[in-house]
Amino acid sequence: TLVLLWLGIFILYFLVKLQRPKNFPPGPVPLPLFGNLLQFDSENPLKELDRLSRRYGSVFSVYLGGRPVVVLTGQEVIREALVTHGAEFAGRANHTMISHITAGKGLIMVDYSTRWRDHRRFTLTTLRNFGLGKQSMEERILEEAKHVCTSLEQHAGNSMNPQHLFHHAASNIICSLIFGSRFDYEDKYFQTLINSIEEFIKLMLGPWAMIYDIAPALRFLPLPFRSSFHHYELLKEHIRKVVAEHKRSQVAGEPRDLIDSYLEEMEKVREKKKEAEGSSFDDANLVILLIDLFIAGTDTTSNTLRTLTLYLMTHTHIQEHCQQEIDMVLGSREHVSYEDRHAMPYVQAVIHEAQRVGDVVPLSVFHTTTANTQIRGYSIPKGTLIVPYLSSALREKDQWKFPDEFNPQNFLNDKGEFVKPDAFIPFSAGPRVCLGEGLARMELFLILVTILRRFRLVWPEDGGVPDHSLIFGMTQSARPYRLGIRSRT
Ligand code: HEM
Repeated sequence: TLVLLWLGIFILYFLVKLQRPKNFPPGPVPLPLFGNLLQFDSENPLKELDRLSRRYGSVFSVYLGGRPVVVLTGQEVIREALVTHGAEFAGRANHTMISHITAGKGLIMVDYSTRWRDHRRFTLTTLRNFGLGKQSMEERILEEAKHVCTSLEQHAGNSMNPQHLFHHAASNIICSLIFGSRFDYEDKYFQTLINSIEEFIKLMLGPWAMIYDIAPALRFLPLPFRSSFHHYELLKEHIRKVVAEHKRSQVAGEPRDLIDSYLEEMEKVREKKKEAEGSSFDDANLVILLIDLFIAGTDTTSNTLRTLTLYLMTHTHIQEHCQQEIDMVLGSREHVSYEDRHAMPYVQAVIHEAQRVGDVVPLSVFHTTTANTQIRGYSIPKGTLIVPYLSSALREKDQWKFPDEFNPQNFLNDKGEFVKPDAFIPFSAGPRVCLGEGLARMELFLILVTILRRFRLVWPEDGGVPDHSLIFGMTQSARPYRLGIRSRT
């Protein structure tokens, strides 16, 4: 009887907890404990989101365990929330495991606050070359593109899996911007760091992080999430050493990279005695900010490069069109420059189309509401989890000329000029729009053009049937494939 009584209380508790607030967006009936989790296919939960949006409309809600989540679909609703009501939708979820690991510092997972705003402004200004010293962002990317080509050259006439190469290249660009130096691709230490980032992300997005969130007391047990802490500690240790070295060798007024700029910012703040006002520029925030930039800037860019090269191999006429445009614009010039993009509308269209179909961050990073608010007549209380379903806009039927195929015409007008439709939001929108958008665009353009000038990409004879489907994840990727490489002579 006692067991039944407890079971009854337990179910009653969840039924009360799972009552949607008044005038909340509609959605399917949740189950106790699991909410609506069981109706999602872990391999491809997006299909279920599409079905729910057809049934309930562009704003609906589901329960992740006991927590209600509002899903925004289609570019109009996403922009209305994230841009028109930007401040009200700019919060971040309080994720227990992340808060324990980062101690609430850094940038990506920090709530809408003065600390977030100060760090975002500082990082954007620094990346826009105002604090990167003698070597510009463009030069650093071109240097990395040269190393990518040297690696590809070693496989000319053959094929290779490009996953590690692109991943290392994207990581190295972040290293160059924040540490002022890059690593050799074969460097064992570099591989350990990259491995730590990958393992950390895998664990953070897996079921253990969710279990930790529900029952943080479990953190004292030797369960797999302990290894997230271990990998994060390794990264922190490395970065602390680099910061200490920067402090020793820094020359005032001559920043070499983002770390030097940050140290100068700390000094300025100290001089103005801003500590009293609660300034957040300090060593602990610097370390987490740097890790955030690594995490945000590596998989996203390298997965997009992999999607790009996959489609160029399987759509050879599109690749040839790009190469004609590149050859015509650059002639015998040694280097491409980012300015050249204005004279290359077709290449621009191809890169954007690869971003659209590659759909790298399908559900954005979850937001929360910072105040009680409304969207499309529904009431959304402060602190509600918000999922901007970005891929719904990237595939929206009435927004694209060819929503279901890879076609650069989606970004070209009748005159062959490059145009960007409003539904192109792979970097999200509003105050929390991707901070690395400018950097990522520059990387994709400079690396792709450098590769296509030197190589023809071919689908290898033993490569099987090309598969363009994506592996679902917080960051999605193309399935592993081999890149066939031929020198262009
Ligand atoms: C956030 C996409 C590359 C740094 C985001 C978000 C998306 C995104 C969808 C979430 C925005 C939101 O919360 O609504 C992408 C894509 C990339 C890319 C598709 C490449 C193709 C980069 C790079 C960096 C970077 C290279 C490195 C500097 C960040 C940061 C945030 C962010 C720091 C958090 C911004 C904040 O919370 O204020 N990105 N990103 N991203 N991204 Fe990127």
